[in-house]
Amino acid sequence: NAPLRDRAAAKGLIYGAVGDYLPLSTDKNYATSFARECGMLVSGELKWYFIRPTPDSFDFTKSDWVAKFARASGMHFRGHTLVWHISLPDWFEETVNRQNAEGFLVEHIKTVVGHYAGQIHSWDVLNEAIEPNDGRPDGLRKTPWLEFLGEDYLDLVFRVAAETDPQALLVYNDFGMDYDNPRDEARRIAILKLLERLKSKGTPVHALGIQAHLWADATDFNPKKLRDFLSQVASLGLKILITELDVADHRLPPDVKLRDRVVAGVYEDYLSVVLDEPAVIAIITWGLSDRYSWMPEYHPRPDGLPLRPHPLDKHFQPKLAWNAMARAF
Ligand code: XIL
Repeated sequence: NAPLRDRAAAKGLIYGAVGDYLPLSTDKNYATSFARECGMLVSGELKWYFIRPTPDSFDFTKSDWVAKFARASGMHFRGHTLVWHISLPDWFEETVNRQNAEGFLVEHIKTVVGHYAGQIHSWDVLNEAIEPNDGRPDGLRKTPWLEFLGEDYLDLVFRVAAETDPQALLVYNDFGMDYDNPRDEARRIAILKLLERLKSKGTPVHALGIQAHLWADATDFNPKKLRDFLSQVASLGLKILITELDVADHRLPPDVKLRDRVVAGVYEDYLSVVLDEPAVIAIITWGLSDRYSWMPEYHPRPDGLPLRPHPLDKHFQPKLAWNAMARAF
């Protein structure tokens, strides 16, 4: 059975997954399965929290190990994320202020992007900067970065990243673009407005990252709405990456066979839409195996049964979701 990375590559696409240092460096079977199936490794640990132990230091020990593992297995390496309002270090709040925020932000991007210059396929430069519920007409999320630097921070972060590593593909990453409901519609509109603003200023943003955290019990998936949105993004001259694809099955009945079938159906339906858009260059799942998943902490099942959101089960065997993805490629 050809692995997903080969099936994707045959279509000129990249398939990858997020991979964390601890499981990859301690579980040989997992590392082997990861290298077999994935043509890209995304480090979700290149957030401030993981690499900034103090205000004046960086620690790349673990991320360097992951980057080396990716390179040794012929995988593209992508970094998540340079600028976010979450996973900031404990010292951040009492240290960063209006006077020094720009210095901290520019130094962070120059140091981190510089450290990996030439090794990185793409960076999630800016993550989740849109939140229409924050009440601004432009839909910008009221993060410390916006508060301290004003909206020009949106352009600054991409410019500094581009100057530091001209080879890296620079991505704006966000969630909540997938379904036909008022919340996602407002988010799609605000995200398009942000992308248009960046492009109109000549800001070096190259792609939109669609996180695609999907719901197995969703009833408002509208393929045409999603397809039209992808076309609008592509018409801005942007590439598209599906950056954190997974399917939360916490609200489904307990039956495992039923859950695997429904989850596989969601993967199939979603991928059949996104893979129809030529601007889409990569499909990344936010997890490869159910054994190592971020989801239980965030969407636990009321009955306490293990979740089954990812392509491989906890023994690294393909599930119906894997078949669905294999067919889609
Ligand atoms: C998640 C990580 O996978 C978890 O390990 C961590 O505890 C919380 O963050 N959207 C994002 C990712 O952009 O950074 C988040 O990753 C998942 C939601």
